[in-house]
Amino acid sequence: MKKHIVLLPGDGIGKEVIESAKDVLNAIAEEFNHSFSFETHEIGGAAIDLYGTPLPESTVDACKHADAVLLGAVGGPKWDQNPSHLRPERGLLGIRKALDLYANLRPIKGFKNLLHASPLKEEVISGSDLLIVRELTGGLYFGTPSERRDNGQSVVDTLAYTRCEIERIVDKAFEAAQSRRGRLTSVDKANVLESSKLWREIVEEKKAKYPDVAVEHVLVDAAAMKLITNPTHFDVIVTENMFGDILSDEASVLTGSLGLLPSASLNESGVGLYEPVHGSAPDIAGKGVANPVAMILSAALMLRYSFGLNDEAKMIEDAAQGALDAGFHTADLRVENGRQVGTTEMTKLIVDFIKTQTASK
Ligand code: NAD
Ligand code: IPM
Ligand code: MN
Repeated sequence: MKKHIVLLPGDGIGKEVIESAKDVLNAIAEEFNHSFSFETHEIGGAAIDLYGTPLPESTVDACKHADAVLLGAVGGPKWDQNPSHLRPERGLLGIRKALDLYANLRPIKGFKNLLHASPLKEEVISGSDLLIVRELTGGLYFGTPSERRDNGQSVVDTLAYTRCEIERIVDKAFEAAQSRRGRLTSVDKANVLESSKLWREIVEEKKAKYPDVAVEHVLVDAAAMKLITNPTHFDVIVTENMFGDILSDEASVLTGSLGLLPSASLNESGVGLYEPVHGSAPDIAGKGVANPVAMILSAALMLRYSFGLNDEAKMIEDAAQGALDAGFHTADLRVENGRQVGTTEMTKLIVDFIKTQTASK
């Protein structure tokens, strides 16, 4: 199979972990006889520095013409004081909107031998396997431009959703639940927010279309609590943009590190974008210690969802599991009796695992 992939390294550890994904994809191409070509473009702070904008037209164009996009992370202290339109994060929101990537799938499944690396009790998290379906192109992030009033002493952000925006993400979540364990938890704040009331109505309407899915509604504050006290309760969680952002970082605690969580950002049928859940991690950037697994697993999701290469995706997931099972880990994971390695060593272990596995077949 021949595919053209646009790489958007972004900033901080984004630049480091994207190299890991590329190495792993090159290994897959070699072992499975595919041809993956890569083209790198700027986004975020890197693009601000070079072009004076967090999302150059050339980047958007390249993404639109690619078979899939891999994104590292954006942001960093260098740009934190910039005016809103010149923040790196605007580049990320811009590309999500430009490609209409309304469905962000964030699978969370602990690696068996890493359960003790979580600060949560092993018996609580054991067996947890959930998927957060986060709405990604609406809500507070995309309200009518935020503004300051009264000499900057009062502020306005708008939380807007249309029926159509809610319907399409809810359908995606029902479909995901059908292909998993048939349970859907819709998370909202319907006791306060008008947007949540409409969200809940639509989930209720959709129920009839998916009779094989058991649906419940949970308020977001209670969901945040249940996620870490009873995580095995959940199968698929569907929620709006901001709630999904917060709950997914919280859910990363189940696995032991944010550095392990991949995500897929999808639209109806066009190009998909794959990005780790974590950010640019300025505190560890440039040190070669970032965990590349979230980025590498995002590349696996790309192979599965955009290219239908299920065996190859599984090979990457098995390889990451294999390296971690063998006791190798980056500094973010508190593993007992393990061997701590850096980003490039961890990547090489995963690449080597892929090579030996395919050689033995
Ligand atoms: P962060 O996710 O970058 O880091 C949070 C903590 O997790 C840090 O201690 C970091 O060292 C650690 N961490 C994250 N990923 C790791 C990895 N792969 N390996 C090891 N440790 C890892 O969140 P933050 O510090 O709140 O934000 C930093 C910057 O990143 C901000 O500018 C923010 O806007 C941006 N951000 C970008 C994205 C994205 O591009 N998708 C996501 C989140 C945050
Ligand atoms: C994420 C990030 C982004 C978000 C930021 C950087 C805009 O936190 O991808 O989870 O909130 O969507
Ligand atoms: Mn986030």
